[in-house]
Amino acid sequence: MEEVKRYTAAVITLSDKGFKGEREDLSGPAIREKLQENGYEVIESILLPDGIETLRRELMRISDEKKPDLILTTGGTGFAPRDVTPEATLQVADRLAPGIAEAIRAASMQITPRAMLSRGVSVIRGKTLIVNLPGSPKAVRESMEVFMDVIPHAIDLLRNTAGDCARS
Ligand code: MTE
Repeated sequence: MEEVKRYTAAVITLSDKGFKGEREDLSGPAIREKLQENGYEVIESILLPDGIETLRRELMRISDEKKPDLILTTGGTGFAPRDVTPEATLQVADRLAPGIAEAIRAASMQITPRAMLSRGVSVIRGKTLIVNLPGSPKAVRESMEVFMDVIPHAIDLLRNTAGDCARS
């Protein structure tokens, strides 16, 4: 019988309004739903205010202590002064994984030219892949369509359990 691979994920929503209770977070739940549909176990899901320090600290805590395969953030990727999710993410990166963010922007540009305004990055810390998604539930769903199929192979490569790339 083929071994069932179970991947773990964490979700971080960045939103000043959400954090203050002034806006319902619909993007975090949208990510969780998509992850669960794809067979991921969501081990943690948190809502943070925008800002570099808190996100940096939480990214380090979750990736180093809980070691999920994947962390998805939503929000704070735009041009507003407090949109600093990419900067916090880059500060915790061991290695860059730019192809995922590039693919999200390229595919999203077919939907809206405003996709070029997302500065989201994708990086690796330890064996955890971290991907920034834009803030709206619509953008979250559209972005996840782009890369979710490729993530299992990315995780297998990070775990060093992947087969030959040429065969898949
Ligand atoms: N990407 C997709 N797929 N769909 C969208 O609707 N919205 C864009 C962009 N990326 C969008 C998208 C808009 S309007 C902005 S301002 C940026 O994401 C940044 O969003 P954020 O600041 O909420 O992270």
